[in-house]
Amino acid sequence: MSDDEFTVTSDPAAVDVDAVHAYLRTSYWAEDVPRDVVVRAIANSIPFSVLHGQRQVAFARVITDRATFAYLSDVYVLEAYRGRGLARRLMDAVMGHPDLQGLRRFSLTTRDAAGLYRRYGFTPLATPARHMEIFRPGMYRQDLGSRTGT
Ligand SMILES: CC(C)(COP(=O)(O)OP(=O)(O)OC[C@H]1O[C@@H](n2cnc3c(N)ncnc32)[C@H](O)[C@@H]1OP(=O)(O)O)[C@@H](O)C(=O)NCCC(=O)NCCS
Repeated sequence: MSDDEFTVTSDPAAVDVDAVHAYLRTSYWAEDVPRDVVVRAIANSIPFSVLHGQRQVAFARVITDRATFAYLSDVYVLEAYRGRGLARRLMDAVMGHPDLQGLRRFSLTTRDAAGLYRRYGFTPLATPARHMEIFRPGMYRQDLGSRTGT
């Protein structure tokens, strides 16, 4: 498969929301995420897609004020397409996006893909004690019933 078969784009109209939702709802970080949440999240982010023909094979989105801060989220490459540089092509597009230049902070969290991001300048937190968060892991999981309170 040659590189030219793939298109990398930040066009929101290019996103196959059903495909992204189908992946994310099985991901370790957003298990069972509802479709309407994914729709809203994409609408309010800069979405990056890798398309193989018409097929959405990779995705990432950046939450940002387009001036000072950005947060990279929901990065994935479909399993059958891994190991051939598509995550790098996605990250090249993210880091080169004109609205994501000159930021004071660009942040992300990752369980095991730090090696991918390190090459783009991301480092572990220098001062973790200064960072605070409200974090609800597993909040979409249907077996926990956390969204409905049941
Ligand atoms: C992580 C993921 C996006 C990488 O996609 P990919 O297309 O296989 O990555 P690439 O082929 O572009 O590889 C890019 C580089 O990152 C490295 N890399 C890829 N996955 C990695 C991982 N999990 N940990 C460390 N390095 C990794 C590769 O070795 C490669 O380095 P190289 O250029 O020096 O060889 C993909 O494995 C994936 O979707 N995983 C499941 C979802 C996930 O964990 N997403 C990340 C959430 S933060």
